[in-house]
Amino acid sequence: MKSESQNYQNNHLIRSFGRIKSRKFSDHKQSLLSDFIKKGSDPFSKKGSDPLQRNVLEIGFGFGDFLFEKVKKNPQINFFGFEPHLNGVVNLLAKIENEPLNNLQISCEDVRPALEKFPEKFFDEVYILFSDPWPKSKHFKRRLITKEFLDQTLSPKMKNAGKLIIATDHDSYKTWILAEFLRSEKFSWQANSKKDWQIFPEDWVETKYQKKAQIEGRVSVIFQLTNQ
Ligand SMILES: C[S@@+](CC[C@H](N)C(=O)[O-])C[C@H]1O[C@@H](n2cnc3c(N)ncnc32)[C@H](O)[C@@H]1O
Repeated sequence: MKSESQNYQNNHLIRSFGRIKSRKFSDHKQSLLSDFIKKGSDPFSKKGSDPLQRNVLEIGFGFGDFLFEKVKKNPQINFFGFEPHLNGVVNLLAKIENEPLNNLQISCEDVRPALEKFPEKFFDEVYILFSDPWPKSKHFKRRLITKEFLDQTLSPKMKNAGKLIIATDHDSYKTWILAEFLRSEKFSWQANSKKDWQIFPEDWVETKYQKKAQIEGRVSVIFQLTNQ
């Protein structure tokens, strides 16, 4: 079996997301999605980057609650979101239809090949919140967060001292993520005490999966890493 690293080298990516469509859309949501796909969802048109502009990325925005609130609160920042699950995408499209936002671009592509289209040192902050834990050992290879993804795909696209924020509620994925970023040669973690991974920032917007975890009694943690 090929290692994750070999998969990266051969540019053969194992799928890290689950279903693309779960529930049927209403006619209105179907038309929102068709318009979005017709327009093309490439969120970056190689405009070149302005080093003074702040750019923030959310990978796997789910139903988009966190991203939508962040975008509204920070009109001076450019936001980018990737989510292959179309029910999530259409949920966010419906919110934007009611409250148009000029500083957000979204895509239903897998973020890994899509990141190649962005310039180097582009993102100030990247969020990966409650990434699919793929709990069965035969599915570990589907886990998005690996040293190779962090160091080879993400780090070059982030500014020096850019922040990577990862949250999860899944015990075995917590340990896995910790091991992967401790192996990373690009990201450092400055945690001094338990509260550094147990306390979420004050202005935090809870995501759908985070709320579900809380109801079901699982403890969520947050890792805040710094790119070199
Ligand atoms: C468990 S859900 C969490 C969604 C949301 N962040 C939340 O906390 O409610 C993880 C999401 O990551 C998305 N995802 C997984 N792999 C991805 C990839 N390679 N590119 C973009 N999104 C991805 C999945 O489609 C899924 O919706």
